[in-house]
Amino acid sequence: ESAEKGGYAHFTIKEIYEQPKALKDTMTGRIVPGKKVKLDDIHITKEMLEDYSRIYIIACGTAYNAGLIGKVAIENLARIPVEVDVASEFRYRNPIIDAKTLVIVISQSGETADTLAVSREAQKFGARVIAITNVVGSSIAREADDVFYTWAGPEIGVASTKAYLTMLVAIYSIGIYFAELLGTQQESYLENLKKELLTLPEKVASIIADTTRIEHFADKIHTEKDVFFLGRGLDYQIAVEASLKLKELSYIHSEAYPGGELKHGSIALIEDDITVIASLTQRDLLEKMQSNIKEVVSRGAKVMAITFEDNHDVEHFSDEVIIIPNTMDLIAPILAVVPLQLLAYYVALYKGLDVDKPRNLAKSVTVE
Ligand code: G6P
Repeated sequence: ESAEKGGYAHFTIKEIYEQPKALKDTMTGRIVPGKKVKLDDIHITKEMLEDYSRIYIIACGTAYNAGLIGKVAIENLARIPVEVDVASEFRYRNPIIDAKTLVIVISQSGETADTLAVSREAQKFGARVIAITNVVGSSIAREADDVFYTWAGPEIGVASTKAYLTMLVAIYSIGIYFAELLGTQQESYLENLKKELLTLPEKVASIIADTTRIEHFADKIHTEKDVFFLGRGLDYQIAVEASLKLKELSYIHSEAYPGGELKHGSIALIEDDITVIASLTQRDLLEKMQSNIKEVVSRGAKVMAITFEDNHDVEHFSDEVIIIPNTMDLIAPILAVVPLQLLAYYVALYKGLDVDKPRNLAKSVTVE
């Protein structure tokens, strides 16, 4: 096993460090500057796409969190309404599915029982199913009409890291592919997006090159009982995944909240010394998010903020700032989540926990 870990203490950290390569492998041949996105195993034409009245993205766990970003990305790029649901809820709520429905299921393992059941049910009602999965020949891949394989390589750590990042690449690729078929976006914008996506492996590499600040913050918060994650727009979806990672790995209770919802509930829990982790990557929402941070600071919260290079304001009211490289807002989740994965890992390490196999969790849930 130690040979498989290739010198790393755990699979989880090894897999976090494999992310630049996983991203690159997943984009190679699909995203090429000056060319339309090429998805060999997806056979959806413009005419078919024009006929879909809605898209459902269905998944469990971290894959569901990738789906939350998928909704925002695909709606923005292709202007088709997207609903996201967890597979175990969707199955039992008598959803409206017919031949005008496109279903995207996301599953790292391709074997999650509830997700597979949704895929089968959707096909029974005449819907087309696209699978995003990391395992070639898995049940979900075999049964779907179209497949997008993420090339993250085997993921051993129970908490998903590199598979999640490549699921995001899958979603952006599909979003751009749809936008190119439908002509819903300016070609120049899509071209910039593709070029920018191709820079992300290097930018992720620069984030993981120095973890000193993150380790320092992990040390500071590892004895906490509750942590709050805040964000607006795509920063909220980042917060949801970061919160899941922290609870899976460190057993610290955590909640993700949209900044604007604070006042409607969780602000009641903000008291002296509580930890709030805020993500600020969405330029249109920066001011609003910064005022949310001030609200929690004035109630005694200590704040760690994740933001991009040219946002200096946030330093004035945060205890810690983690800087990520600039990128386009739509794809910022690929960068912003990485320091938060590392944070969850180091908190678990400081607590002396079994990082690769957190208690009660399984890598793949193949029973209901
Ligand atoms: C389990 C794992 C999670 C994973 C989820 C969905 O709960 O512990 O890490 O996100 O299953 O798995 P899938 O293979 O369908 O992505």
